[in-house]
Amino acid sequence: MDVTRLVLAQRASEAALEEARRANKMKDEFLALLGHELRNPMAPIMTALELMRFRGDAATQREREVIERQANHLLRLVDDLLDVARITRGVVELKRRRVPLRELITKALETASPLFAEKRHRLSVSVAPELEVEVDPARLQQVLANLLTNAAKYTNPGGEVQVRAYPDGADAVVVVQDDGIGIDSETLPHIFEMFVQEQQGLDRSRGGLGLGLAIVKALVQQHGGSVAARSEGHGRGSSFELRLPLLARDEGGETAVRTEGGEQMPVATAPARVLVVDDNQDAAELLATAVEAMGHEARIAHDGASALEVAATFEPHVAILDIGLPVMDGYELARRLRARGSLPRLIALTGYGQERDKQESASAGFELHIVKPVDLQQLGSSIEKLIGR
Ligand SMILES: Nc1ncnc2c1ncn2[C@@H]1O[C@H](COP(=O)(O)OP(=O)(O)O)[C@@H](O)[C@H]1O
Ligand SMILES: [Mg+2]
Repeated sequence: MDVTRLVLAQRASEAALEEARRANKMKDEFLALLGHELRNPMAPIMTALELMRFRGDAATQREREVIERQANHLLRLVDDLLDVARITRGVVELKRRRVPLRELITKALETASPLFAEKRHRLSVSVAPELEVEVDPARLQQVLANLLTNAAKYTNPGGEVQVRAYPDGADAVVVVQDDGIGIDSETLPHIFEMFVQEQQGLDRSRGGLGLGLAIVKALVQQHGGSVAARSEGHGRGSSFELRLPLLARDEGGETAVRTEGGEQMPVATAPARVLVVDDNQDAAELLATAVEAMGHEARIAHDGASALEVAATFEPHVAILDIGLPVMDGYELARRLRARGSLPRLIALTGYGQERDKQESASAGFELHIVKPVDLQQLGSSIEKLIGR
């Protein structure tokens, strides 16, 4: 039997496979190179912006903020490019340690919260207590922030996003569920592949490169976990389920089966009414979103007069006051709140952390003095402490 044609065909297919591998390798190398080359000029741009912010030139503040936002966006894209290049070449090293899952979720919410505030999504968070995992915290935060950002991005304004975390056998499960635009059944099986994106009718102003979920999947697998996407189709919302090996509380670093404790609890132990006063609208909304994500009820005011009005009906347990408010500053507002007889616990929020500032806020009746940028973890436990007293 003459097998010449068979052999030729086999050689051709081997050559094609080899060519495809080579092309794929070149693509990965190109991505890595592109990432590096784009990141280099970003560093001095970011530094220059920081200097401008430091000098606080009021005349160009708006423009500076625009450049800052866009440059940060660019930086995130470039970081994604670099990450995906590194991850696909298997050169990401995980720095694992044991961490409470709740802490990772809080930090990730912090990253995503400006987008949630901007789109006015309702966010509900329910995290079972005492879930511990042994992971690279920065990488896991990145994974969770990616899922949360997607949920916020691919959901029309005023949507509903839920985050749940609970134990399931030997796994910790985190579900991020939205009621957004959903994913159609043709795209769904490929959604974790690089560059895969759905046709988007939405504006692409915040569009990414379609790398986020590829990064999520690779990182989660490297952690020995898994991630899955579900959607009933367009307009039906999506949910992403993340599974990670759960760490038993007492076994040092060992993975063990956990059976009890399906009980779910909101992040805050007791919900409080929290008034947030900041003349910077973005800052106020961001903070209010974060406070709500902790399980509290939040209201916003942008100046002293309206803060007093809101306080009269809302009767906050805790008031977080920016000190540098126009007209009536935070100290004055604090005094007037006290004078009205309503006695919220007071937290001062300032850009200054000098001893003198702390003394002044203490004498105005503030019990806590938090310096910007706010550490949400710290704020969360401060609120807990104040209402627990
Ligand atoms: N929660 C979600 N709801 C609907 N579609 C989503 C969701 N998350 C991801 N997608 C779809 O998956 C695609 C890939 O997501 P991702 O890898 O994060 O890239 P990017 O967000 O940069 O487009 C998105 O472009 C979008 O079409
Ligand atoms: Mg994304």
